[in-house]
Amino acid sequence: MQVLGEAIATQADIHAQWGGVVPNLARDAHAAAIDAVVDRALAAAGLRPQQLSAIAVTIGPGLGLCLRASASFSGCTTLNGVPAEQASSSNRSSSSGNNGTSDERNGDLSHTADRSTGGAGSSAPMPDASAVASDVFRCASVPFPFLCLLVSGGHNLLVLVRGVGDYVQLGTTVDDALGEAYDKVARLLELELRPHGGAALEALARDGDPRAFRFAVPMRKYATCDFSFAGLKTSSRLAIEQRLAPALTQHLTAQEVYKLKADIAASFQSVAVTHLMEKTRRGVTWARELAPGLRHLVVAGGVACNKVVRASLQDLTGSEGLELVLPPPRWCTDNGVMVAWAGIERIACGWAEPPPPPLPLGDAATEAAAAGTGATEAGAAPSPGLGAGAGSGAGAEWIELKPRWPLTSELHPKSEAARREERRSVKKVRMFTALSDLVPPAASGVTPSATGVGPSGGGGEGGEGESGSQAALPVVEAGAMALAQ
Ligand code: KG4
Repeated sequence: MQVLGEAIATQADIHAQWGGVVPNLARDAHAAAIDAVVDRALAAAGLRPQQLSAIAVTIGPGLGLCLRASASFSGCTTLNGVPAEQASSSNRSSSSGNNGTSDERNGDLSHTADRSTGGAGSSAPMPDASAVASDVFRCASVPFPFLCLLVSGGHNLLVLVRGVGDYVQLGTTVDDALGEAYDKVARLLELELRPHGGAALEALARDGDPRAFRFAVPMRKYATCDFSFAGLKTSSRLAIEQRLAPALTQHLTAQEVYKLKADIAASFQSVAVTHLMEKTRRGVTWARELAPGLRHLVVAGGVACNKVVRASLQDLTGSEGLELVLPPPRWCTDNGVMVAWAGIERIACGWAEPPPPPLPLGDAATEAAAAGTGATEAGAAPSPGLGAGAGSGAGAEWIELKPRWPLTSELHPKSEAARREERRSVKKVRMFTALSDLVPPAASGVTPSATGVGPSGGGGEGGEGESGSQAALPVVEAGAMALAQ
């Protein structure tokens, strides 16, 4: 398996200007960037569109306006007429998609990154190819079952991954995701929010005393694997309001103000990580009840970049006799490789959909589709299988977007309370049938080793839908890559 080319465009500057994701701006930035980012990925791979055999596109969960930009693109614009298959994948599959599993590794693994800086949006710098190759290889070699901890800006999940599309949810967040809490506390501390507040807060915390503020560790009285970060965020806000009020800080030096901020940041991080570890340790126990042979903990999502989180997880897995699998930091946050990877898994399982009928370039319907009418939310389109359904003609709505898409309806037997809560919340928000419930019976049980396809994994399409917070939505707007076997 080779990563031939890759490109990412980010909207971080736009969102930083507005203090969060503004849906219309995010949609426009997606539409403006997508041509260039795909061109760059293909150029880095040395491929022409006609050489592709499949296109993977995220249809959920995520912000519908943005999902639509790429879903429309994948069938209707630059690649128009290419006889490619469509493999839909969920947003979070990325995270675990990087950490997929395969028993077979016989191809050489190399990586050619796109280092260009052109195109719409700003491009993320790409690391040296040889530096990531061994990490990718390791992530690609994890066998099922494994425990996945997803810690992103929108999701906090503990999931037992038994196969591609086969998940048992052990825990989720009852309020804010960890990345969201990092971002919000970073904003309260007036830190740099580009590309995310999390990295700035981590850097500040290095200069602080983690015992300076005694914040309570959340959820200790609940014997579950669920997470909660809203209370800790509120405690941090109160500390900031009480200790950093202008009336007080006017008597302090800049250094003293900095130290106070660093102490709050360090105390927040210490309690957040303690909570994360406590619940993850219980998750290991629960996962072993269902899968006694469990040997790996795979971590995904932007917060997995955090060095304190990584070191604490290393300690945890060491004491639990597990192997820790962490993607390279730049593949912890949103990127196109994870989506392409998840697409390959699905194609190997026979879950790909035929593309929509080709449209003549310049056709009015093509324009309309590219502008966003070629994909629909809310199930208006006929969409069997994994959510992508061929339309009946040019300009037809051919793909169903799933902005709130639960990962699985299968919860650990001990999380009955979570199940009740989930039923209640399903009534409040528009939800779709869980991803794992859509797996065609014939396809379940197909494993990467059985298919002989590379990295895989379980895809972790993860996520039980958006948390509802705009600020928690992904800020990296578009990614594209090409994989070859
Ligand atoms: O996976 P991701 O792209 O999230 C979503 O798309 O939802 O990751 C972004 C999240 C942000 O909330 C960001 O603050 C957090 O990951 N993050 C970090 C760090 N780097 C990114 N949080 C803590 N420490 C970091 N070093």
